[in-house]
Formats: sequence, structure tokens, C-alpha cells
Amino acid sequence: MSVRINPSILAADFANFERELGRIASADLVHVDIMDNHFVPNLTFGLAMTERLQELSTIPLDVHLMIDDPDRWAPGYAELGAYSVTFHAEAAKDAVSLARRLRDIGARAGIALKPDTAVEPFLDLLPEFDQVLVMTVEPGFGGQSFISSTMPKLGLLREAVTKTGLDVWLQVDGGITADTIVIAAEAGADTFVAGSSVFRGEPADNIATLRAAAEA
Ligand code: DX5
Ligand code: ZN
Repeated sequence: MSVRINPSILAADFANFERELGRIASADLVHVDIMDNHFVPNLTFGLAMTERLQELSTIPLDVHLMIDDPDRWAPGYAELGAYSVTFHAEAAKDAVSLARRLRDIGARAGIALKPDTAVEPFLDLLPEFDQVLVMTVEPGFGGQSFISSTMPKLGLLREAVTKTGLDVWLQVDGGITADTIVIAAEAGADTFVAGSSVFRGEPADNIATLRAAAEA
């Protein structure tokens, strides 16, 4: 199975995004973490900075919205050209209508689940989404440890995707290293977000190591 490695810009040098994007050019997509200090207790940046990243990046943007009221804000990220826009199930008022709006604008629509959010209610809704993000840490900060008790959710998702034949990517985010990526891949993930383990050291080498581990 082909895998995707999406470095998280959260672990990059915020004062040198142009240079940092150059260091991850061998990745598949760049993961852009948007935090609003309400849905999560941390703050990053919003539409204006993401628009600039979209202009500078040679690889597509994978936007992860950790914000309240995504129904209001998510379409703006699709409009600026983000390849995928993922919002949290816990925050959306109407996840299906929002996903449809994102697709209408031309983005892949993603839904994210915090570690304690059950996946079962979403299995029948899979045709509405292009990506499901199973959070493997509590959203809000980089550098946390992988929560392995989230893995059964991927098993259920992989089974449903295989059964339906849909092209839905199964993403994990949080605590992904050369070791935990193997666990997540075996559980059914095909799209891997990694912050610290990419930007600590030489990103191109780290991306290659993660890719090899996930494909093994
Ligand atoms: C956490 C973010 C992640 C974060 C991952 O809330 O959604 O994308 O950057 O960082 P690492 O890979 O360091 O756990
Ligand atoms: Zn993220």
C-alpha cells in the first residue's frame, strides 16, 4: 500500500517557514495545525498565514482545524486552495453538510476524532469524507506520546473502507515515530502526520526513515 508522510509545520521554526518548507519537499503533504485557544488550549495562526504557506509550498496543504465553529471557518481554508481540510467531529454542528461544502469548493474533506471519541457513529458516513483523522494524542501540542488504545478505531475504519471500496485515507496524528508508525500502519493507517520526529535532525532523512518503516 502506498503511504503518505505529512510533516507537521507545528514543529518547524515559525520565523522561517519558507526555509522549513524547503526542508520537507520530499514529503507528500504539509500538515498545517490551526489552533484557536478555545477548542484546544494553544494558539497557532489562521487564514492569512495559511494563504502564505499555500503560496510558498511545493507540496499540497493538509489543514487540520483544531478550532470551535469549523462550520463557519473551514470553507475559507478550502477556498485558499488547501488540498485537504480536516475539522473535528467534536466541534462541528453539522459534519456532513460541512464536508459537502468543502468538497463543492474542491478540497478533500476530512473528519478528526479525539482519542476518546468513538468511531462507530461515523462508519456509515464514510462516503461523505475523503479522510478520517484518528488522533493518537490529545490535540493541542506537539511532542506528546502515542496513545496506542486508539488503534482499534483504525481497525474498524480499515475494515469499513475495504468493504465499501471507498478512497478514504486513514490518517494518524500525534507521537508518530519510526517505531509507532509501524503500529499505526499495521492497524490500518495509510497517512501519517509527524512533527517532532521529522523536524528534529535532518527532515529529508527522517521522512525517508518514516516512509520505509510504514511501507515495511
Ligand atoms: C497536535 C497536532 C499534531 C502535532 C504532532 O495537536 O495536531 O499535528 O504537530 O506533533 P508530534 O508529531 O510531535 O506528536
Ligand atoms: Zn495535527
